[in-house]
Amino acid sequence: MRIFILLCLTLSGTAGAHEFFSTKVTWTREISRIIAKRCLECHSEGRKAFSLATYADARPWAKAIKEEVLNRRMPPWGAAKGFGDFVPDHALSQEEISLIADWVEGGAPEGDRLLLPPMRPTALPQTASIAKRKVPLPAAALPAQLRIRGIIPGPGVAPGTQLAAQRPDGTVEPLIWIVEPRAATGRTFALREPITLPKASRIVKQGSGAFSILVD
Ligand code: HEC
Repeated sequence: MRIFILLCLTLSGTAGAHEFFSTKVTWTREISRIIAKRCLECHSEGRKAFSLATYADARPWAKAIKEEVLNRRMPPWGAAKGFGDFVPDHALSQEEISLIADWVEGGAPEGDRLLLPPMRPTALPQTASIAKRKVPLPAAALPAQLRIRGIIPGPGVAPGTQLAAQRPDGTVEPLIWIVEPRAATGRTFALREPITLPKASRIVKQGSGAFSILVD
């Protein structure tokens, strides 16, 4: 009997006391914050896409949300985080993706409504205009030093295509890894720090498609 009462007390603390959730991640504590910061710019009333601003709006989309973020189709950005360092970077971090996946797999619980943050669209940071010249990706070893400030994926880029710079001393600098060409094509990926490549460096492409680079 005592166990039964304890169980009732525990369950009545969570929304939808009759449902069983296998995760501690909740909408009101973690997921709403990720959504507000990364998704509401487009996913709220009067914006480009259907609203994800409330639990009631988002709950029916839970499985699709997991699918879209795991495949990095949402938010539309196109490049993997951590391979090349960009400002801004709209991609979700691995931790954010894991929280969303855990939340959905655990039954997408709402949680304590007192924890809910204000759910207003936050403008996604825009890329500042950064460079003087746009040139095609050099196909051969560089005839002179080059300072790269950004990368623009062009037509025909296949998913999974990677660019890396190889210096003559053998060091390799990851530049970009395209995961979703539809979102990445034509976008300026501005490097946080310009990358200086000495003469005789090469930019190695694994995959296919055209790229431009922004240089000083
Ligand atoms: C820059 C605008 C933008 C941002 C930011 C954005 N989305 Fe979207 N999203 C869209 C648009 C537009 C669609 C409509 C479908 C399409 O055109 O692909 C969409 C569609 C979706 C879909 C439905 C996919 C389907 O067809 O099954 C899901 C789920 C989704 N978004 C989740 C998210 C999540 C989660 C975030 C934040 C982590 C996010 N989106 C951020 C613009 C955006």
